[in-house]
Amino acid sequence: MSLLSNISPFAFHKIRDHVYRTAGIVIGADKTAMVTGRLWRRLELLGHRDYETYFAYVCSSAGAQERNTMVDLLTTNETYFFREPAHFHFLRDDIIPQQGANKMRVWCAASSTGEEPHSIAMVLAETLGKCDWDILATDISSKVLEHARTGVYRAERINHIPADYLKKYCRRGIGDYEGMLAVVPSLRSRISFEQHNLLHARENNAQFDVIFLRNVLIYFDNETKQKVIDNMLQSLRPGGWLILGHCESLQGLDVGVKTIKPSIYRKPAPVTSTLKRVAV
Ligand SMILES: C[S@@+](CC[C@H](N)C(=O)[O-])C[C@H]1O[C@@H](n2cnc3c(N)ncnc32)[C@H](O)[C@@H]1O
Repeated sequence: MSLLSNISPFAFHKIRDHVYRTAGIVIGADKTAMVTGRLWRRLELLGHRDYETYFAYVCSSAGAQERNTMVDLLTTNETYFFREPAHFHFLRDDIIPQQGANKMRVWCAASSTGEEPHSIAMVLAETLGKCDWDILATDISSKVLEHARTGVYRAERINHIPADYLKKYCRRGIGDYEGMLAVVPSLRSRISFEQHNLLHARENNAQFDVIFLRNVLIYFDNETKQKVIDNMLQSLRPGGWLILGHCESLQGLDVGVKTIKPSIYRKPAPVTSTLKRVAV
């Protein structure tokens, strides 16, 4: 067995603790193989003989870049186009018809390599007609965002894109890009990708009509979930929608939203009285 597949309990504890404090992600006590499996190449590349010296480097001022790389490697970025399609049907059939003529703003938080915001963009472009829209897509990982901004994917990743969307909103690569697919510029220009850590509230006061926050809460404990949801709700307009992954819920959290369906929530709109004041 390679030396780099062994990690001391001390180094394992330090790495787990760092990832929890910076990204909120809970790494289980039984995940030593996952941690060494994802990090050993970094140790080899940087010439560290064990995880303690690697972690000391990560914490040093020279290790600022490696801190990001380590967290990137320990997060799970799995995603694909039109994952959990019922949410895209709900967006098309329930949310968009209630939007009226107002510009629609969607925040796709934890967007990974961009398949999710590009799927949302296809639905908005197809359904909103002349109504204006844009999407903010964020993730903690600069590496996945770099990929997302290119809008280019391996062709085998496109299985779940409906055929008519594929024809309209994607282009197959030729030459050097053979076997690749690119999302059309008219959709990509509507999406801004930004690095953002869900543990923090967004600093500007932008309000979104819909927030997709899917398949990331599962990595957090309840305390972190509460903090993240409180942060997100500050950016959701009254009457706006919050969409989680199918296996996630807000159960056990103190949140002022209404459950519309499992995994779909709505922030209450202010009550407007229809009663007229009667002169006495
Ligand atoms: C499993 S992917 C989910 C991608 C997409 N939302 C989906 O449902 O297909 C989880 C993403 O959450 C991001 N993430 C994890 N912790 C985060 C945090 N504290 N702030 C922002 N993004 C985070 C990871 O970098 C990863 O890209």
